[in-house]
Parts: sequence; C-alpha cells; structure tokens
Amino acid sequence: MSKKKIVIDPVTRIEGHLRIEVEIDENNVVKEARAAGQLFRGIEIILKGRDPRDAGLIAQRICGVCTNVHYRASVTAVENAYGIVPPPNAQIIRNLITLSLFVQDHIVHFYHLHSLDYVDIVSALEADVKKAEEVAVSYHDYPYRSSVGHFSSIKEKLTSFVKAGRLGLFANGYWGHDAYRLSPEENLILVNHYMEALRIQTTLSKAIAIFTGKTPHPQNLVVGGVTSVADMLNPQRLNDFIFIIKDVHDFIERAYIPDMKLLVNAYKEEMKSGVGRGSGNFMAAGSYMIRGEEKIFEDGVIFDHDFDGIEPFDEKHITEEMARSWYKSDSNDPYSEKTEPFYTDLNEDGTLKGEEKYSWIKSPRYRAKPMEVGPAARMIVGYLKDSKRIKPVLKSFMEETGMELIDLSSTIGRNVARAVEAKICSDAIFDFCSDLIENIKYYDEETWTKFDFDKLPKETQGCGIHEVPRGVLSHFVRIEEGKIANYQVIAPTTWNASPKGEKGKRGPYEESLIGIRLSDPSRPLEVLRVVHSFDPCIACAVHIVNTRGKSLSQYRISPV
Ligand code: NI
Repeated sequence: MSKKKIVIDPVTRIEGHLRIEVEIDENNVVKEARAAGQLFRGIEIILKGRDPRDAGLIAQRICGVCTNVHYRASVTAVENAYGIVPPPNAQIIRNLITLSLFVQDHIVHFYHLHSLDYVDIVSALEADVKKAEEVAVSYHDYPYRSSVGHFSSIKEKLTSFVKAGRLGLFANGYWGHDAYRLSPEENLILVNHYMEALRIQTTLSKAIAIFTGKTPHPQNLVVGGVTSVADMLNPQRLNDFIFIIKDVHDFIERAYIPDMKLLVNAYKEEMKSGVGRGSGNFMAAGSYMIRGEEKIFEDGVIFDHDFDGIEPFDEKHITEEMARSWYKSDSNDPYSEKTEPFYTDLNEDGTLKGEEKYSWIKSPRYRAKPMEVGPAARMIVGYLKDSKRIKPVLKSFMEETGMELIDLSSTIGRNVARAVEAKICSDAIFDFCSDLIENIKYYDEETWTKFDFDKLPKETQGCGIHEVPRGVLSHFVRIEEGKIANYQVIAPTTWNASPKGEKGKRGPYEESLIGIRLSDPSRPLEVLRVVHSFDPCIACAVHIVNTRGKSLSQYRISPV
C-alpha cells in the first residue's frame, strides 16, 4: 500500500507552534497522525525557589492569550496549599473576568481562527445581498447587522480588497476548495460577522480591564483575594462593564448562535458521520460556584462515549507520561515530576520519529487514558448531569438543528459546544454582577482574606484546577521551607494535543484525525478543520524556543 506523509508546520490561526503530520493511504484517508509541539516551556523551572505569593505573576507569562486563567489557577493553587479561602466578592470578581474571557476566546476562535475553514471569502463576492438578508432572517428574526445596505457595504469592501490585489489577512486561504459547502449568501453572512467580531473582541478586552487594570497580563489577583476594590465600589465602572456584556450578549444571540445553526445545516452530513470524532473520552473538572448552590460547569468523566457510565472527576487519577515527549523524568506525579528537557533528533528527511520521542508536549492521562477536554466535554457532562444552566440551552439548540449528544463529539460539534457555552457564560455574568451589587448594597465590601505569611506552614502542597476556555487547567505547587520546591502546569492543550503515551495510545488531536478523507492532499483543509476545532493554544502546552529545531518549514507533501 502506498502511503504519503503530509506535514503541516506551522499550523496557523492558532496560538503557538504546532506541527501536524498525517499519513494517508491511496484513497487519501488518514491512517496515522502525529501532533508535535515545537517549543519547550521552562516556566516551571523559573518558578522553583520563588516566594509562593509571586507565583501567579510569573505563571501568567506562560501564554499571552490565556494570561488571566494561568494567573488565577496559580494563585488558587497557593491558596489551596495554605487553606486560604478568598471572600465571596473576590470570587465573584474573579468569575466575572474568567467568564468574560470564555466569551471573548470563543468568539475570536470561531470567527477569526476557524471560520475560514468553512467560509469561502472569494465565493462571498458572488452573493446576492437581498437573498443574503432573507437567509439571515431564516436563522433569527432580528439577525445582527444583516440589512441589504450593510451586506452591500461589506461586499464592496471585500471587492475593493480583491481588485487592489491585497487580500491581506484573507490571503493564502484554500479558496475554491471542494470541501467548502456554503452558498455565496451564507459566506457573506459569516464574513459580515467576522468583521463585527473584530469590534466585539476589542470591547471585551476593555470590559476585562475594568477589573484587571490591563489585559493581557492582569495585575489584580493576590493570594487571598483581589485588589479591584475601587473598581467594585464605583457604579460607573460596574455600569461600563455591564453595558459591554449586554452588547456582546446581543451578538451571541443574534449572530454567533444563528451562524452556528447555519453551519450545522450546511455540514450536517459530516457531523452526523462523525468527522473529527475522537476516542470518546471526555473530562470536565467543574467550576465557578454561583450563589453557593450551583456550579456553572459540572464535573464528570466519560470513557468511550459511554454516556450512561459517567463518573465523578477526581484529580488523583491525573498523571503525566513522557514516553514520546522530549523530557526525562522518573515520576508521573504532577507534584513531584521533573521538567528536564531531553531532545532527540528527527528522521533524516526532517519528519518526526513517530515511534520514539516527537513532541515538547507531555501526555497527561486520566486513569492512564488520553482525555478530550474543552467545551464539548463540558457541554456533554453538563447535559448528562441535568445542569440547569447547560441542559435547556443545549437541548433547544439540538432540537432545532436535529443534533444528538453524540454529534458534539465531532469537528462541527466542538464549535456548537463553544457557541452554546458562550451564551451560558454571558448569562451567568449578569447573575454574578447582580450578586456583587447586592453584596455591596449590604455593605459587604470585603475583597481579601487576611493571613500572616510567617505563620503559614513551611511545607505544604496544593493545586488550582479550573475549567478555562479550552478545557481543564491544573497548576500543582509543592512548597518546602516556605519556597516553591516544584511546580507543574497541565494546560487544556496539553491534554488535547498530547502525543502518544506509554501505551502507544494517540492523543485527542491525533485520534480525531484518523479516518479523515482529504479531497485534495495538496490542500489539506480537512486536517486543519479537525485541529482548529480544538482551539489549540500551544504556548500554554509548551514554552521557550528550541534552539536546535529546524527552521519552521512551510507546508509540504512528500511520498514515503
Ligand atoms: Ni494559552
């Protein structure tokens, strides 16, 4: 059987440096896949010997996109180690920021990082603007900025780009590829919202910065609470925050959700046939208590799509394997494992040695199994656990589009999960805001739990485990003589982009690529769709450039 190896390096429209290699058979069907992080993360080493109270400010430098969530997980890990519980107002402010980040990440992911895998910009130029308006109205009674006049101006803008020969950020797409299914009008609707989402992205940064001082790399979290006291007590700042969230909520309801319905309709066949489906192992840790009675996200673990056999999440089952990762370690336990780089070479033709070490990403496992984390895992778990926040929203979307729960386990399904989750998060932000206002009204202005550092234990350990936009994020800290003795981070992308582990089982990206059929191997759009659907953040998974690495080559195809 003749096999061809396709290398995509770097994968673009993601954060960080990811290399994907797939082997296809004579029918262009993927038979083997390898995901390799191309950078080494050294933040854990930098943290050793530091004061635990400084950990958050350093750990947030892991990633320029996910700064806030690393900051929070790190501060929480230290609080957990010392048994410090922040007061309710601090928890609410932290939740307002993190949930705003969920919404921002999901909108940016779909429109700016992923939609062009489904939307053919060039085809949008052929759209009939009147017809586009009719299509938009068929998905929502009041679609977001979808008048004939607005569509005409977007079309004009696109035409002027093309005429001037400068597609700019739309250059180098696989325009005209056979796998594109949308009509010119549907393409125009999505391009229109791509443009609108650029503004939404900016305003959300402003909203987050109201509490964080700046974004990215916020400054408002401390062990025991938050420093946003003046912001919390200023009605104008609270009002500015709520005003932006209302605008974004409107975009989600009138653009993001309808666009997702349109996408499901157009790509239903692929979704129903399970394109991009992985092994069916899902993990959610659960997070964000609201009013002391319910969580926004439930916890649960599912193996092999066995939805009836959902079990509770327990962090004790997490290990990290390094059999195929460029590290040495004598332990799989996140509290004690070392981060010692051990780079081995590539094949002579520059491809990965698939049966040896081939990635800077480690292989986290739960009960020794690879797990998919992220919106699909959270939505499936929330649905199965009858979450009052998740189930009604997801159920209504599924009924309207003819989806079943299993369909979330696919390339399209991951996008649906993300859009539904954006709505759930923006709804929850309003509830948290009203709780904060209620507290302040009754003179509860506490934002920090006082502690005396000198009286805290000198030897302890703890973890901060949160659901963050891309999945479960865990920070593990061990403290000795009052200083950080060991630190480990397992980011969502570490789970999803992991290489094979000790038992040779593929990671979630790899497994989801198996069986994909490429209509044109010289333009591997179908591979990009699968990988992009996870919203990779490779900087979170790994760090620091590998100076021995080959120059990052462009996409190429080579017969093996
Ligand atoms: Ni990140």
